[in-house]
Amino acid sequence: MDKTNSKIQNPKSKIQNRNVSPARIAAFEILKKIETENSFTSVLLPIYEADLQTKDRALCHELSLGVLRNQIYLDKVIEFLSGKKNEKLDLAVLLSLRIGLFQILLLDKIPAHAAINESVNLVYRAKKRSAGNFVNAILRRATREKIELEFADEIDEISIKTSHPRWLCEKWIEQFGLEEMGKLVAANNKSPGLIFRLTKKSDENTFAALSKIGLEISEAEFVNDAWKVSKSNEVLRLFAESGKIYFQDEASQLVGQMLNLQENESFIDVCAAPGSKTTFINSKRHTGNTKLFVAGDFYEHRIRSLRENCIRLDAQNIEFVRYDAEKSMPFADASFDVILLDAPCSGTGTIRHNPEIRYFLKPSDFIELSEKQLNILKNASKLLVKGGRLIYSTCSLEREENESVVENFLRGATNFRKVLPNVSERFLTAENFARTFPGRDGTDGFFIAVFEKV
Ligand SMILES: C[S@@+](CC[C@H](N)C(=O)[O-])C[C@H]1O[C@@H](n2cnc3c(N)ncnc32)[C@H](O)[C@@H]1O
Repeated sequence: MDKTNSKIQNPKSKIQNRNVSPARIAAFEILKKIETENSFTSVLLPIYEADLQTKDRALCHELSLGVLRNQIYLDKVIEFLSGKKNEKLDLAVLLSLRIGLFQILLLDKIPAHAAINESVNLVYRAKKRSAGNFVNAILRRATREKIELEFADEIDEISIKTSHPRWLCEKWIEQFGLEEMGKLVAANNKSPGLIFRLTKKSDENTFAALSKIGLEISEAEFVNDAWKVSKSNEVLRLFAESGKIYFQDEASQLVGQMLNLQENESFIDVCAAPGSKTTFINSKRHTGNTKLFVAGDFYEHRIRSLRENCIRLDAQNIEFVRYDAEKSMPFADASFDVILLDAPCSGTGTIRHNPEIRYFLKPSDFIELSEKQLNILKNASKLLVKGGRLIYSTCSLEREENESVVENFLRGATNFRKVLPNVSERFLTAENFARTFPGRDGTDGFFIAVFEKV
């Protein structure tokens, strides 16, 4: 049966005056920027959603992330229904089809006729009038035809059904085995719950106020003073905007919690922007502390965000420094008691939050990144005092960026020894590092290694 029935407009009618909902326009523009500029959803969503009403904001979020989490599958369905390779499709047409199909096949709350009309309107809005009939026809077929995709083998099926590039699935099978890879790709496509922590700006009224905003809030599982909430609302958003709370995944907070900086210790966060860990670590210090606390980064614009975040969260007594940590940092050797190197990485542990990462990466990236990580680690290690501790972390799941980097480092740095990370036993690996996994822990995937200079 044709679910769409007569409510679907003829795309030639009402060519003028075609209104598309603000949520779908925003999702379309976000997805276009991701395709054309390799931008990240975590950056784009707050920008586009700032101008939307609460209801539109939720739909924009669902459409943008939902399409990205299912993109390979949706593209296969488009090819199945159109009988054409998608490379031949104009980007605006492809995006309109992805958005429409996602609503028809994977969301159950939007009537098919609305999804179809809005996608047709999106192509008109993109000035691709001639494609209106095509989009209309494909989406209508999706409502009445059985989608029967063919798969070359089991990995191909997992790759398509979970929309992870095949090479990445194969890489993860090699690292973790087929079963764990299956859990990982499934977890990557689940919407991660929101975790927030209180900040220096929160007071005794903050949590009391939060408990009255009509959302179910429960304690986070692995870190102290953090809370889990299934979704956001306007009050929560305003609290975050004013710096009274800060959204941060548990695995990221775990790095700050484990670091446990003491009052009398000098500290540098080598790759600090945008400051999630800097502000966490700073919030555990009492104000008025005079010991050196440095937060540095390579990019001017990222240092700006870092500063803004520190101001917003009332993180104090921080020296901000710009440098290229791969080359050198403007400090004498042995300047710091504690060093955090939260290294630039592929981010494969954060695909739940940034689903597009899987499409940006290519196999050669990991080796390039590991060279950069090792260079920064070697440079940072010079700044540590004897007896001091150096923490290396990434939000990558890849061995090349984690165990391989630190093992390589230790081979050349005989005055450093591995220390067991101070985390719950469940996170410890056989090699005495710490790891979190989206599939196992319901957190982002982080790696943590701790060293002491002897
Ligand atoms: C994983 S992010 C850090 C996230 C941060 N620690 C937090 O918790 O918010 C890595 C950072 O390394 C910075 N970076 C990349 N190359 C760098 C370099 N050569 N020197 C210094 N920082 C660099 C990036 O700009 C980025 O901000």
